Amino acid sequence: MLDILYKRRSIRKYKAAKLDPATVRQLLQAALLSPSSKGFQSWQFVVVEDPEILEQLALAKKTAGFLKGAALGIVVLADPETSDVWVEDTAIASTMLHLTAAALGLGSCWIQIRKRQHTETESCEEYVRRILGIPENLKVLSIISIGYPDQSKPPYSESDLKFDKVSLNKYGSKF
Ligand SMILES: Cc1cc2nc3c(=O)[nH]c(=O)nc-3n(C[C@H](O)[C@H](O)[C@H](O)COP(=O)(O)O)c2cc1C
Repeated sequence: MLDILYKRRSIRKYKAAKLDPATVRQLLQAALLSPSSKGFQSWQFVVVEDPEILEQLALAKKTAGFLKGAALGIVVLADPETSDVWVEDTAIASTMLHLTAAALGLGSCWIQIRKRQHTETESCEEYVRRILGIPENLKVLSIISIGYPDQSKPPYSESDLKFDKVSLNKYGSKF
């Protein structure tokens, strides 16, 4: 696990190759294995493989353009009626997708949708909801773009880790 965590990076350039259905299924297995508050599983997912829809989603905001070149975008949704801590539930599921992609040798990146604006008058959430026909009662947290990596980034090393953010026993005591 730590080896994967050191190597995990946000990858925004992908090869044209598609993912085989078994790999896509493994990614969804990971998402559906996510822990959730009280086990209420407030998340839902839309798997987008259609290049035309990916291109439209890539226009959600400036820092989503690379979604156009991805094999897959997994849109992470929540039903807020199911859990008051749906933000946490869906953030964990997004992380599970991102880490599982890394473990499978895929590149992926989190695209933030919640609390971001598409235009001055339309939020990213409203835009994504409009493109995908998502019901009004569901929230949109993120889109995880996934594909075979076409860029390499250096892994992290222990010297990158800010252990000064960690206290021992009482706040401010050196770990
Ligand atoms: C909550 C969250 C939102 C993010 N939103 C975006 C985004 O909208 N677009 C993007 O390109 N990267 C996004 N990222 C990826 C971060 O930019 C990236 O994790 C950070 O720069 C550290 O780089 P690394 O993932 O390679 O370690 C997001 C990451 C997180 C955790």
